[in-house]
Amino acid sequence: MSNHSDPKHSGDSHEHLKVTAAAKRENPDPSEGNQQLPPSLLLIFALIIGFAGVYFGIYHGGFDGAVFNEGDSTPALFSDRKPGAGSGDVAAVEQTLVEQGKAVYANCQPCHQASGLGIAGQFPPLVGVDYVVGSEKRLIAILLKGLGGPITVNGAAYNGAMPPWEKALSDKKIAAVASYVRATWGNAAPEITPEKVAAAKKEFADRSAPWTEAELKAMPADAKIEGAAAAAPSPAGAPPQPAPAAGAPATASAAVDLDAGKAQYMAICVACHQPTGMGLPPVFPPLVNSEYVKGNPERMAAIILSGVMGPITVDGKPYNNMMPAQGAVLTDTKISQVASFVRATFGGGAGPVTVEDVKSARAKYGSRATGWTEAELKAFPEKN
Ligand code: HEC
Ligand code: HEC
Repeated sequence: MSNHSDPKHSGDSHEHLKVTAAAKRENPDPSEGNQQLPPSLLLIFALIIGFAGVYFGIYHGGFDGAVFNEGDSTPALFSDRKPGAGSGDVAAVEQTLVEQGKAVYANCQPCHQASGLGIAGQFPPLVGVDYVVGSEKRLIAILLKGLGGPITVNGAAYNGAMPPWEKALSDKKIAAVASYVRATWGNAAPEITPEKVAAAKKEFADRSAPWTEAELKAMPADAKIEGAAAAAPSPAGAPPQPAPAAGAPATASAAVDLDAGKAQYMAICVACHQPTGMGLPPVFPPLVNSEYVKGNPERMAAIILSGVMGPITVDGKPYNNMMPAQGAVLTDTKISQVASFVRATFGGGAGPVTVEDVKSARAKYGSRATGWTEAELKAFPEKN
């Protein structure tokens, strides 16, 4: 007996057919399937997200906590627009020297740290230190020419090299950073104006070597910078630079263009040796406190021409990496410029590497295919 012959069941299925036919005439019930979003809605979302992104990109305010703090907010923080370039109230906000100095301090921070406390045994503190809050002349002297050799700061001994900033920073920036370090971390000494920096620069124009502790100690603790008042009324506003007399025969060393050298450095060397010349231990060695940067200028040229490879100890720390040769990329003039910039800035004021030094190095070692090893570099004579 099969179910098909059951009369009751067949009547049931008939009923069922009728119901489905009726249901078929109706619209389908809404279901829970995946359905495409209307393209117009997608476009609106895309526009909103795009607008928000651009808006955020422009008005992020450097993600500075003070930007959205009603109590402590500066309109100038909202954008990078220079005061005076825009219009309305935003333009009226002029930053004080100390405020400007905070940004310039980025140059000092790798060594002296955000706290101004330095690193014990390596970089002296700037907090509560007589060199910072004492004589304005001495502080500007340090910033212009750098500092080297043994020095005692707040009772602790240091023996490092602080680079000179005369060439890297404008008078205004030196004034700003000096004012900043004198007025931060509890220091409370008066600010130093750009005019005073210009006057000090003139006074120390003949000096190129970094200061020693003995020389700084010889400057009276209350030494003031003279000549600033005389510089102020100069008609152009800018104090006259000690320009070399036209036609005066330039010496070989004066002919090296350190600004061009800085540009090379910022284009090539900076990726590894960093803007501070401190490198990135333990991968990239520093140029500050490096015996290879000082000493024989021909060796310095040879390093840039052919690169360096293998284990090498720089400033007491071991490295084992490789520096690419630049001889094929850089002309003799450019190598002379960048080498001289590195020596003047990070080499404690070591003398320039002349184009002749580079020419001579290229003639002797230009055919080298591999980088120098430590042993080979050590075998160079101290002087040429
Ligand atoms: C490459 C690291 C380095 C950088 C960058 C650097 N300094 Fe120094 N600074 C030193 C070292 C090292 C000394 C101590 C030198 C010595 O031992 O003879 C020093 C000493 C000083 C001193 C005198 C000693 C003291 O502790 O007060 C002052 C002031 C100073 N630095 C300020 C600055 C300022 C301002 C900047 C930024 C414009 C700066 N330094 C950038 C390394 C650095
Ligand atoms: C790609 C990264 C890189 C670039 C770019 C670079 N260097 Fe180097 N440099 C190194 C490394 C790595 C070493 C150490 C090699 C080793 O471990 O044997 C070194 C070593 C040196 C040394 C000898 C050791 C020391 O620290 O004093 C000097 C000097 C030097 N480089 C100068 C320069 C100059 C100047 C430039 C730009 C023209 C430059 N370097 C570009 C990575 C680089």
